[in-house]
Amino acid sequence: MKTILVTGHCGYTGQELVKLLLKENYKVIGIDTMWYGKSKIKDKNLVNIKLDLREIGKLKKMKFDTVIHLANIANDPSVELNETLSWNVNVLATFNLLNYALSCNAKQIIFASSGSVYGIKKEKKVTEKLSLLPISIYNKTKMVAESVLLSKKNKIKIHCIRPATVCGLSDRMRYDVSVNMLTYQAVKKKKITVFGGTQIRPNIHIKDLSRIYLHFIKNKSKIDSGCFNAGFENLSIKAIAEKIAKKTKCKIVIKKNYNDPRSYRLSSEKLLKTGFEQKYNVDFAIDELIKNLLESNIKISPKNFNVKWLKKIIKHNRKY
Ligand SMILES: NC(=O)c1ccc[n+]([C@@H]2O[C@H](COP(=O)([O-])OP(=O)(O)OC[C@H]3O[C@@H](n4cnc5c(N)ncnc54)[C@H](O)[C@@H]3O)[C@@H](O)[C@H]2O)c1
Repeated sequence: MKTILVTGHCGYTGQELVKLLLKENYKVIGIDTMWYGKSKIKDKNLVNIKLDLREIGKLKKMKFDTVIHLANIANDPSVELNETLSWNVNVLATFNLLNYALSCNAKQIIFASSGSVYGIKKEKKVTEKLSLLPISIYNKTKMVAESVLLSKKNKIKIHCIRPATVCGLSDRMRYDVSVNMLTYQAVKKKKITVFGGTQIRPNIHIKDLSRIYLHFIKNKSKIDSGCFNAGFENLSIKAIAEKIAKKTKCKIVIKKNYNDPRSYRLSSEKLLKTGFEQKYNVDFAIDELIKNLLESNIKISPKNFNVKWLKKIIKHNRKY
């Protein structure tokens, strides 16, 4: 049985990924500060370690084949709450994790970078060959962390995945990502508010993203080290809102003033050439989200919005 070390395993994408890895008979060691809560998954093949990645030096050597590195301050506004903390977690801790993985003789690191490293791009096909012009600090930390990891590609296989905005259900929900947030507004507030709306954003379903991480584990020796876009539907925010409004029969309010100009389309041809096939889409995510929001009595809390919750953590804990 192969062992995978997953950092940030209690997070939105981590929880869905861990379920898939366990189903595929991997043993999982998860490391997380558990800022947004513990793992909801109980399984004899899952080891939960509560640890801040900045203190990875405290961890004894373990045996694992692959690291999937998800633990980051994971969006633009959260990163801006405390820049020093963000660089330390997103870059310095990534460097320390790389050295730890090398000292444990791991064979591969898969890094959750971000499709937003490209910044604003007019090109119809944003491929990995285009220059990176990250416009937020979050995007800059991702770009630098990729370089740090790739500097050791002669010693360990490095696969940097650049996911589009993720959508769909997870045991730890985020309602601060576009499709999830707009669907939440439609169902709970009966009104969708769109800021700008013409910005084009690529999307990826959370189940497909987990399948991509698995695909890279299974094909690690066949796929060269490098960066891979992972997004399939390039849609304007307004087009996403219209899809949701049609399904929920709610109204859309467009606000002309907005402070998030990021706009880009991802081309995932390089990923598709490695043999990966997309299975889920934005419509699937909207349908499952509507059903879940209508049927479940889950309470939505500030924990479902990263920046709101992190603000509280940083304010009440001097360590951050
Ligand atoms: N969700 C998206 O749309 C999206 C898109 C592109 C890239 N990504 C990237 O994917 C990764 C996972 O995103 P997510 O949506 O699951 O985010 P998330 O915030 O739900 O999960 C991140 C997890 O990492 C943990 N964590 C943060 N700092 C840590 C530290 N110093 N030590 C240990 N654990 C720490 C948090 O407690 C959390 O459980 C992130 O790196 C993010 O930047 C996400």
